[in-house]
Amino acid sequence: MTDHVVVPDVGRVGELLAAAGCPWPAPRYVESTGSTNADALEWAADGAPDGSCLVAGEQTAGRGRHGRTWVSDPGAGLWSSTILRGQRHLPRLPLLAALAVVDVARSVGGFSASIKWPNDVLGSSGAKVAGILAESGPDAVVVGIGLNLDYSADNLPDPRATSWLIETGVLADRTEVLVGLLLRLYSRVNSDWADCLVDYRRLCSTIGSTVRVTLPGGGEYSGVAVDVDDDGHLLVDDGQSVRTVVAGDVVHATIAP
Ligand code: BTN
Repeated sequence: MTDHVVVPDVGRVGELLAAAGCPWPAPRYVESTGSTNADALEWAADGAPDGSCLVAGEQTAGRGRHGRTWVSDPGAGLWSSTILRGQRHLPRLPLLAALAVVDVARSVGGFSASIKWPNDVLGSSGAKVAGILAESGPDAVVVGIGLNLDYSADNLPDPRATSWLIETGVLADRTEVLVGLLLRLYSRVNSDWADCLVDYRRLCSTIGSTVRVTLPGGGEYSGVAVDVDDDGHLLVDDGQSVRTVVAGDVVHATIAP
């Protein structure tokens, strides 16, 4: 048994957002749901204002990228979806959300995180600590962030995953992490894109790595990820040309010297 509090104090989060000058409302918390992204898309259709955020203690049908499932065990992480309105550059949002998670890892958790293009957040060992899934509704985008918090090394949902606990050695204060995450997300989506790109290039561990690119329709190729372009697309040098990766799945692959 633990007396560790796994429910964020959403009223307090609302107060702290307001005190920091963020106009977003206090988040909502539910103990269990299928997917906060699915719920937030419905909430957006019902008129939820910009910055409305739903957090769940558990998701029974958490959605990952490429139709995968996102394991969201009870009390083990921060499973959140934030509704954004009035955004003109939708493909930028997952990258900005990844920057927000890296920001909060450093500012609240004190650990260095990096980004696997486009928006997986990796801990110091290169294992995944957070995943991001942005989904569009009629006039809103839902940015879903799954941040692993209390998993220990022996109960990780995936051998390639890590958690806040593993990275920091301490159990996360949900209220502190949630307010930090929302403030960073608010800041990133309202920042100059060119400035964010500078940070993204610095924090993206894919750049400079040998990668294998799996294409959505099948097929793959390998090359060195040399940069991201001004739209955040990955540029991969396959030895003959520099190819632009817009969609697809990039697997970091280290080639033996
Ligand atoms: C990925 O595949 O890396 C993306 C995972 C995104 C998971 C989050 S958890 C909160 C939100 N609700 C969902 O159903 N998915 C996202």
